[in-house]
Amino acid sequence: MNAGWIRNGRPGPLMAACLEAAAAAPSVHNSQPWRFRPHPTGIEVLADRRRQVDLVDPAGRELTISVGAAVFNLRVAMLAHGRIPVMRLLPEPDDPDLLARIAVGPPIETDETVRLLARAVAHRRTNRRPFADLAVPGEVLDELVAAARTEHGWLAVVDPMMRSSVLALIGTAEDRRRVDPAYWAELERWTRDRPGRLDGVPPQAFGPWPVPRTVPVRDFGLVWPAPRRRVAAFEEDPVLAVLYTVGDSPRDWLRAGQALQRVLLTATVRGLATTLLTQPLEFPELRDLLGRQQDGRRAQAIIRIGYGPLSPPVPRRPLAELLEPAPAQAVDAVGVAGAS
Ligand SMILES: Cc1cc2nc3c(=O)[nH]c(=O)nc-3n(C[C@H](O)[C@H](O)[C@H](O)COP(=O)(O)O)c2cc1C
Repeated sequence: MNAGWIRNGRPGPLMAACLEAAAAAPSVHNSQPWRFRPHPTGIEVLADRRRQVDLVDPAGRELTISVGAAVFNLRVAMLAHGRIPVMRLLPEPDDPDLLARIAVGPPIETDETVRLLARAVAHRRTNRRPFADLAVPGEVLDELVAAARTEHGWLAVVDPMMRSSVLALIGTAEDRRRVDPAYWAELERWTRDRPGRLDGVPPQAFGPWPVPRTVPVRDFGLVWPAPRRRVAAFEEDPVLAVLYTVGDSPRDWLRAGQALQRVLLTATVRGLATTLLTQPLEFPELRDLLGRQQDGRRAQAIIRIGYGPLSPPVPRRPLAELLEPAPAQAVDAVGVAGAS
């Protein structure tokens, strides 16, 4: 292997660039619940359960989706750097935190789709601002559906007839949270703004209060209202889509994360803004109402899609904090490989 990828058990510059891309993925409450460990032929992606958002995500489903999104970014970045990512999706029953192993495969010529997706990684945001009252063209929505399908996900654009029901479910879940002191305590931990903080959701990302509440975005300003936070009218008929997977195991959640990220990046390429609205999926009985049990499909994410104003970036932890040391035998093996 080229030393640009792995050198003496540490990421070389090419792998470091790919891991930076992985770390730009969306994650529940910006928890960034991932770790990376070099191995002889590439990188292992691990869950960081210390960063699990326990109340809203007791099973670690959203944590695993977040890691899946990071895995997708890593794959795209490797392709953009001209190498095929050879991926093994885990977890193994005896190592539930090891979620994927991605080897640096043979060279490949980068195509236009990969180039665009890779470029979109740094521009994608979760946008909690009002979107324009503009229709999203059908062919663009079809492209998002195809993006999910490529990663074994099913994206169902919510029919206008069903929109108010889905919005009501989101609003119900959000209202239930707002009266739960344990939710306030958890949100307090992930939204407390302090200088130099590199995780959690900062005030600049809260967006205004939607009044009237046509879009029940998650209110990250509940505990620590941002100074000078305004109210604003949001679009009346938000475009919503629900991402499903067949099955609901950790491996399905990893697939959901990759499908989600492919959809979000494809939307970014097409100039669209996106917001995740996952509140009802955190209550089993509300999630069931969105599920399609008859064919085994389970709802994994709800996405709002539209044309929005720019939204500021939110911080990420530096790569040095995300790296796990390679096991001793891997350092030896990689050291030999790195010399070639
Ligand atoms: C599984 C998952 C669930 C999420 N749920 C919500 C949500 O319900 N509401 C919301 O506003 N953002 C949600 N987000 C977005 C995160 O808050 C966001 O990714 C994070 O704060 C980082 O910001 P960025 O996406 O702009 O980089 C979710 C993200 C993931 C991966």
